[in-house]
Amino acid sequence: MKSQALQPNPIIEFYDLHPPMGDIKSDVISGLSSTPKALSPKYFYDQKGSQLFDQICELPEYYVTRTEIDLLEQHGEEIASLIGKDSILMELGSGSSLKIRTLLSALKPKAYVAMDISKEHLINAATVLAEDYEWLEVHAVCVDFSLPWQLPMHLKGKRTAFFPGSSLGNFTPDAAIKLLNQIGHLVGKGGELIIGIDLKKDRSTLESAYNDAQGITATFNKNLLVRLNRELNANFNVEAFHHESIWNRAESRVEMHLVSDAEQTVSIDGKEFTLLEGESIHTENSYKYTLDEFTKLASRANFDSVKVWQDVNQLFSIHLLKFR
Ligand code: AVI
Repeated sequence: MKSQALQPNPIIEFYDLHPPMGDIKSDVISGLSSTPKALSPKYFYDQKGSQLFDQICELPEYYVTRTEIDLLEQHGEEIASLIGKDSILMELGSGSSLKIRTLLSALKPKAYVAMDISKEHLINAATVLAEDYEWLEVHAVCVDFSLPWQLPMHLKGKRTAFFPGSSLGNFTPDAAIKLLNQIGHLVGKGGELIIGIDLKKDRSTLESAYNDAQGITATFNKNLLVRLNRELNANFNVEAFHHESIWNRAESRVEMHLVSDAEQTVSIDGKEFTLLEGESIHTENSYKYTLDEFTKLASRANFDSVKVWQDVNQLFSIHLLKFR
């Protein structure tokens, strides 16, 4: 993968490994050609989508973020004591780089590498972090970590990956094993992974977490179509879609859909796709696990469990894993 070392400002090292736009177009065309129609959730995160996701994280219904932050704050010292200081700390899907703040003072890493697909958001977040933590060496890598990638810089030292937010849940279990294994090779044998995993729970808590009363999640979901209209010159009638979230218990996942309220034909790059009234585009899966299910899945990716923390309501879990 070609890296482009750009220096948007002197306090962070920035590397652009961004996938070409052609990937979005071919992905979207293949997703809309399949039955049922589907789009990849990784395309949610343009500038607007990243901002909407930050708003989702603050919603009363979306217990994920606050529960995870509480766990990290409560157990940060213990996590740090199990890992030790001076590691190269790499965060996958770093977004606004907020959660890592709960660990930085205790972990005292040698360097922090933020990795995200959303370039402007990544640069802004890494810059603010570098300003707030003057002692920390901050790198930012714009990358689609769902594809094979390599670190574009040489950093010596023990590596620790941080993958919070249950973002692994947006991958099918098979893809999750593949991605975990890839993270394992990034940290190397004996390297660690701190990962947040959302837990199975009752239908109403899960469905309302993905369908909030203020409609922010609906706007986040529909913003995907706004993005495709803008970037691929598509012509989705965004107003004629509604957002749905469903807990699919048989598949252990919350599904998000955009359902067309009217028959419409959409054209992208000269190709036409017809959506019938009531037809859905499946836009996201968010898999949920029990502690045991996740430990077994991680083991299939060659990670051993070091320690697990969960909140009293058993909503969310943090796992410390070691690559063997
Ligand atoms: C980023 N990811 C872990 C979120 C989730 O919970 O699956 C994305 C999200 N989609 C709707 N709300 C939040």
